Amino acid sequence: MSFKDKVIYQIYPKSFLDTNQDGVGDLLGIQKKLPYLKKLGVDMLWLSPIYPSPQNDNGYDVADYTAINPLFGTMEDFESLMAAAKDLNIEIMLDMVFNHVSTDHEWFQKALAGEKKYQDYFILRDQPTDWVSKFGGNAWAPFGDTDQYYLHLYDETQADLDWHNPAVRDELFNVLRFWLDKGVKGFRFDVINVIGKDQVLQDCPENDGKPAYTDRPINHEFIHMMNQATFGHDPEVITVGEMSSTTIENCILYTEPQREELNMTFNFHHLKVDYQDGKKWTQMPFDFEKLKELFHSWGTQMSVGNGWNALFWNNHDQPRALNRFIEVAEYRVAGAKMLASAIHLNRGTPYIYMGEEIGMLDPDFDSMAEYVDVESLNAYQELIAAGKTEKAAFEIVKAKSRDNSRTPMQWDQTTYSGFSETTPWLPLGKTADSINVEKELTEGSIFSYYQQLIQLRKEYPVISEGTYQAFLAEHPAIYGYLRSYQDQELLVLNNFFAEAVVIELPERFMKGEVLINNYPAAELTKELVLKSYQSLAIYR
Ligand code: NOJ
Repeated sequence: MSFKDKVIYQIYPKSFLDTNQDGVGDLLGIQKKLPYLKKLGVDMLWLSPIYPSPQNDNGYDVADYTAINPLFGTMEDFESLMAAAKDLNIEIMLDMVFNHVSTDHEWFQKALAGEKKYQDYFILRDQPTDWVSKFGGNAWAPFGDTDQYYLHLYDETQADLDWHNPAVRDELFNVLRFWLDKGVKGFRFDVINVIGKDQVLQDCPENDGKPAYTDRPINHEFIHMMNQATFGHDPEVITVGEMSSTTIENCILYTEPQREELNMTFNFHHLKVDYQDGKKWTQMPFDFEKLKELFHSWGTQMSVGNGWNALFWNNHDQPRALNRFIEVAEYRVAGAKMLASAIHLNRGTPYIYMGEEIGMLDPDFDSMAEYVDVESLNAYQELIAAGKTEKAAFEIVKAKSRDNSRTPMQWDQTTYSGFSETTPWLPLGKTADSINVEKELTEGSIFSYYQQLIQLRKEYPVISEGTYQAFLAEHPAIYGYLRSYQDQELLVLNNFFAEAVVIELPERFMKGEVLINNYPAAELTKELVLKSYQSLAIYR
């Protein structure tokens, strides 16, 4: 299975479909919707964590790596889902959270109880550093009633593992073997570029301490060891690493095939272009210049360096891209298609986050009482402590909360939108009646546009294999790029704004074929008009 012509669909299991009416999605719900996913045309389903967990971070706090959380079903349900998916030629990608475990995990509990063997699984120090947790506050917490502290780069209930300890690596590699033996063909590795800390930890006042533990050279060695010990021998397995605050140079190293680390990486720079001074909990219109510059530098350098990007706009940690980049009141449909084209025709492997294919929006919650995400709740408190009014703090959370994308999937117009028959764990979005799968499939056009994009990737090697070059790099409204493969070329033009613009089409494309267009067909003239959020791909 090459990963270059594949499209991967991310499911947040808690919010996909509830079949046992407890308000939480489950594995049988995913199985029930396989025909829908097949119709869309995706090749692999990435499931956010489904393991036993206290759910303080919605499953990214794993208490047992080789079991299924009863909230989602049983191991039989998982096996049945995987078999049914394979029958449709769809594979499963599991989320591997290997930087940290839940403090409920047996390893941490045994460490707390005084077992030296397990204490060595964690990063314990007499003297903590000045690092800040990514969820706010100190990154160190007292280790039981000892005089030591344990490191938690995330929540206090997510204790970082010590990858320098070979016993820890063995345990984690065994987890991978366990799932490989079951037939799992994909792994998404959570924050995998922070697993390799230095052995002597240093204070680092810069950027909350991130430079001291991100993309350290040892990180590459650990990933290479994992590759060689487990999935590296099965060319069918697809791996993607989530990279926090990373660089292009490192992502080339992580993905250049000869280095035998990972197939591809997620980076988040393009989703920080609406952060004021680089800070998430602020509000600002997105900076198009920066977005375009990032796409061009990543696209070009990964292409030249033989690296590979995971391409995405949405996931369970991001507000919906439509609310961030598009004037949705008027242009939701054209905008959704333009954003889709911008990444699906690009060099890399595209990911679709559930609901994106029907143009789902942020839920538009009315008060803080509706939010449950630990990061959002902490951020609200920090904003208030920093002097913001309740209203101002709420507006920021509303724009930035991870709960924006975690609301239940909108299936139809029945109560709870066909997600469940009972109150869901997180309220539905306000648009559930007007934006849902049933409506989209009967009268919408975003879903079929995604179907088309997925098929194009399979038919045209210029999309799956071609090189990347910036086009009209200086244009203030167009994100354009050129893909080349043997004697074929594809020109992709995306207008990121509501105002129409005119560009000069290179002569060689005037007789080209339009592969996809989010507006009715237009003539390819030298002076080419791109309408509001228009996206056009021309092949020759
Ligand atoms: C990244 C995951 O996507 C996010 O949801 C989680 O909170 C952190 N890693 C910590 O595991």
